[in-house]
Amino acid sequence: MTASMKFPPGFVWGAATAAYQIEGAAHADGKGESIWDRFSHTPGKVQNGDTGDVACDHYHRWPEDIALMRELGLAAYRYSIAWPRIFPAGRGALNPAGLDFYERLTDGLLAAGIQPYVTLYHWDLPQALQETGGWASRETATAFAEYADVVARRLGDRVAGWITHNEPAVVAWLGNLSGQHAPGTRDLPTAVRVAHHLLLSHGLAVAALRAANPHTPVGITLNLNPMHPASDSPADVAAAHATDGFQNRWFLDPVFHGHYPADVLEALGPAGPPVAPGDLATIATPIDFLGVNYYFRQVVAAAPGNDPPYRMVEPEGEYTTMGWEVYPDGLREMLERLHRDYSAPAYYVTESGAAFPDVFNGDSRVHDPRRQAYLQAHFAAAAQAIAAGVPLRGYFVWSLLDNFEWAYGYSQRFGILYMDFPTGRRIWKDSAHWYQEFIAGQGGR
Ligand code: FCB
Repeated sequence: MTASMKFPPGFVWGAATAAYQIEGAAHADGKGESIWDRFSHTPGKVQNGDTGDVACDHYHRWPEDIALMRELGLAAYRYSIAWPRIFPAGRGALNPAGLDFYERLTDGLLAAGIQPYVTLYHWDLPQALQETGGWASRETATAFAEYADVVARRLGDRVAGWITHNEPAVVAWLGNLSGQHAPGTRDLPTAVRVAHHLLLSHGLAVAALRAANPHTPVGITLNLNPMHPASDSPADVAAAHATDGFQNRWFLDPVFHGHYPADVLEALGPAGPPVAPGDLATIATPIDFLGVNYYFRQVVAAAPGNDPPYRMVEPEGEYTTMGWEVYPDGLREMLERLHRDYSAPAYYVTESGAAFPDVFNGDSRVHDPRRQAYLQAHFAAAAQAIAAGVPLRGYFVWSLLDNFEWAYGYSQRFGILYMDFPTGRRIWKDSAHWYQEFIAGQGGR
């Protein structure tokens, strides 16, 4: 299959990470506290009491990590900037050492021939802004635009692509409705306000980034899951449509069409978003690409009388250690649907990968045949979408390294490189060797 999978020339092969998940150095060089520092240090919030205090120590080991990327043959690397390294209190006093770190990293990538794709918000809000309301406060959107402006003026001439936000649905619904993520709030009206201000801040940041560097492409990354009804019954079909509304259309419709989906607005009733005049036009500022994070589909059944009135069904199949179904065709389906319904100018798969129970037995490499098969099948699905006419331009594997998997701590290994956390040693998994050969087979970078 690999040999027949030919991607267009210039297709960008990369890997992705996020600041809090890999950097460690939680207090180094003037960094402020983030909501994930606070959350992970709150007993009971993260499995095993794990924190990102040290993580992969990428903050100090980044030259080694760039060398690994170079050896892999990556054309691009997607990483995120920790806002509290730049503005320890969220806004106001700038911390020059924080900007210096990301400048060294960015220049190091360029020197290795690797294109930098930079996410501005991968969930580590400065705790000081949480104290003034977090994303439930409109002011946080303004602060985000100020931060975007400062970063763009420093790095924008060297960045290949900007991603404003990573997965606002997760920030809103897991951070503020179910409380599984920082800041751990459980309140529907708050979660809806958060979602609106994240989207508003995206639009404001697009303008700030463009003002600084008119030619650098700007996009947003959404986590998108196909929602399949558990049966053909009208009730299950309606349940799948409703979950699609909250998870997918709630973010896609405003960004691409400038309005919220009517069915979700109706379902929310008085808990609807605090839309001020002009907000939707700001949110719908045209972008250059959509980043798609794809991990799984969901199979949905009606559950009348429940709150919410639907439940997720687990079909027969293969599952990862996250409990996520392996379903490669969902990637093809989602990309084709996106192109049909939203027609973004370009798409990138900004995350795709899987956690499996990898074991390091002291050997020189870790054997992870399931991850290799996973990547291969998902690449094939992406190739099918391209053949169907979707302008998919690149693919970032999640993740370069095993890392801090949020509420799961270090219990979930997503890396193509294995992390021996006690020593910080990086060990190649078979999937990394496979990816290296695959990229070379595509003509290299
Ligand atoms: C995504 C996140 C990423 C990582 C993967 C497994 O939702 O964007 O940081 O945790 O899931």
